[in-house]
Amino acid sequence: MTDRIVDNPFFARIWKTLSTSEPPALRRLRAENLAGLSGRVLEIGAGTGTNFAFYPSTVTQVTAVEPERHLVEVARSAATQAPVPVTVSSDTAETFSSADPFDAVVCSLVLCSIEEPDTVLRQLFSLLRPGGELRYLEHVAGNGWRARMQRVADATVWPRLFGNCHTHRHTEQAIVDSGFQVAENRRELAMPAWVPLPVTEFAIGRALRPA
Ligand SMILES: C[S@@+](CC[C@H](N)C(=O)[O-])C[C@H]1O[C@@H](n2cnc3c(N)ncnc32)[C@H](O)[C@@H]1O
Repeated sequence: MTDRIVDNPFFARIWKTLSTSEPPALRRLRAENLAGLSGRVLEIGAGTGTNFAFYPSTVTQVTAVEPERHLVEVARSAATQAPVPVTVSSDTAETFSSADPFDAVVCSLVLCSIEEPDTVLRQLFSLLRPGGELRYLEHVAGNGWRARMQRVADATVWPRLFGNCHTHRHTEQAIVDSGFQVAENRRELAMPAWVPLPVTEFAIGRALRPA
């Protein structure tokens, strides 16, 4: 298990800007990813707390973890404006623990940045109650020219610029391999297909810890 302090002032500055100017399609996907949730929710790698505004009133408590020392303060400030109670911890996904299981775990744009996503997904599985669900919204590995672009991006500057983000990850497969049962999954482009960026295609879905 990794115990990693996340201190990335350059990425934190970029993310503060990017997260306030997202394409409308991505905002819509964020809302969809959280729709229908209820009870106690764990959110991993909350960034600036962009998701907080989208939690439905049926959620009684959000525990968000955000270890990057600049972003955690922004997330704490966003938590004060959230429509549901949100507490923000500076733990990493790897070091966070809880005696009480959660009804749901939320991952958005974060499994790309985690050093060992397989390990963390197994940890998230164990933090859910039986029957609880993982909600995910993640950019994923594409095919053809986009896959080639993603591999080049991942081997060069992309992870360094964007807080260890890796664009060519088979995240849906990793979720299945961690023991989850996928209840819903689809892919969607958040930008037109021709946009030459490695992060245009998103997977959005719901996966259950079997009861
Ligand atoms: C691209 S940002 C996405 C933020 C947010 N989830 C969102 O949807 O806007 C990725 C976030 O994951 C966080 N992160 C990176 N490694 C992490 C880890 N090991 N545990 C928890 N969060 C992590 C980063 O600090 C960053 O805030």
